Amino acid sequence: MQSKAWTGRFTQPTDAFVEAFTASIEFDQQLYAYDIQGSIAHAKMLRHCQILTEQESQQIIQGLQRIQAQIEQQQFDYSIRLEDIHMNIEAKLTQTIGEVGKKLHTGRSRNDQVATDVRLYLRHEIKMIEQQLAKTQFALLQLASEHTDTIMPGFTHLQVAQPITFGHHLMAWFEMLYRDRQRLTEAYQRCNTSPLGAAALAGTSFAIDRHYSAKLLGFKNVCENSLDAVSDRDFIIEFQSHMAILIMHLSRFSEELIIWSSAQFDFIDIADSFTTGSSIMPQKKNPDVPELIRGKTGRIFGHLFALLSLMKSQPLAYNKDNQEDKEPLFDTVAQIKGCLKVFAEMLPTITVKKQRMYQATKQGFATATDLADYLVKHGLAFRDAHEIVGKAVRYGINQNKDLAEMSLAELQEFSEIIQKDVFKVLTLEGSIQARDHFGGTAPNQVKAAIDRAYERLQKFKE
Ligand code: ARG
Repeated sequence: MQSKAWTGRFTQPTDAFVEAFTASIEFDQQLYAYDIQGSIAHAKMLRHCQILTEQESQQIIQGLQRIQAQIEQQQFDYSIRLEDIHMNIEAKLTQTIGEVGKKLHTGRSRNDQVATDVRLYLRHEIKMIEQQLAKTQFALLQLASEHTDTIMPGFTHLQVAQPITFGHHLMAWFEMLYRDRQRLTEAYQRCNTSPLGAAALAGTSFAIDRHYSAKLLGFKNVCENSLDAVSDRDFIIEFQSHMAILIMHLSRFSEELIIWSSAQFDFIDIADSFTTGSSIMPQKKNPDVPELIRGKTGRIFGHLFALLSLMKSQPLAYNKDNQEDKEPLFDTVAQIKGCLKVFAEMLPTITVKKQRMYQATKQGFATATDLADYLVKHGLAFRDAHEIVGKAVRYGINQNKDLAEMSLAELQEFSEIIQKDVFKVLTLEGSIQARDHFGGTAPNQVKAAIDRAYERLQKFKE
């Protein structure tokens, strides 16, 4: 049996339940590749600083590479007795290459080791999430560019407010995801700092070169303070907050897809391949994908709260509490990647029911503001215009007539200012064309916004 790394000062063995209770190997095995990457950089640094010989360093590196291959070929047995991924690998190293394996842990601690592993992991995953996010953004831009003049009702309070284009609506979501991506890039910067060499908390008495190992690992900076390096998990919390905001956006968007695919709205149809049926009601086609994304939002918010709470009472420096950072983080990464993947793939399968959207826009007096604006342009004060149009709408409700369906004589009952040219502004097309300024819903503005969006995405890559 492989022995534990810290039994020296103990006279009794660990209680079997405590052993299982304190172990993290079940979940931190996910970190194996980063743990090995960190250890190889550490071994090279020890060699560079003449703390290990070239031969020792080589033996350690080759041993670690063999272990990595074993893990990847599912030939590695993880042991709860060895608590976590760090000690599982280290014990295996000594078993594989002999006594020299015991020298790897010179000048480091599991505290800086785990902080390094998680940063390497998160750095990689942030890039993966960014790629997924980019795919979702491109899917949105594609759909938006097909609908720069598709008219739909714009809502406030979920009541028809003003006509907008579907492309414009989609571009609102694009902007939110754009900021999500910006936040992610910022989180990457702060994650990209090396804690390695902080050792347990105070640094080490060996003449190490922290900048050397940091460079090998591609870290941009080195954590300035050893206590901070091993103890804070704010880089995870920051990432987690951004993911909470991101999924909040996805959840809102999902909510719209769910509403729009209901029979009452009937604005869109999500492809069969992205929906599910009911085991009892044969007619049902349920928008499970957006519903599940909306549902997953709860656990991502929960993970943020868990991480904040985990950190809030910890005195410096490392405490075992920090072992609890991994499950929420790993789950968040997996869920967010899944949500973005399915979202990006679902978007192109959506059939947009233009006719239905158009009809719905015609039904809600969506051009009432346009009529008020018309009166203002002919000399009335806006408040008076508002009052007049309100009366016209009340008449329309009683007569079951939209403003554009009223005759000129009917409209003139409310104000003599109204002339024949009013019908230009009362049509849905006239209404959207009129909002022709930067950020407005006019089709040419939406087209320009989409063009700029493609350019902005291009800059992200550079
Ligand atoms: N499994 C531990 C964690 O995730 C590794 C660090 C353990 N350090 C210690 N001093 N017990 O935080």
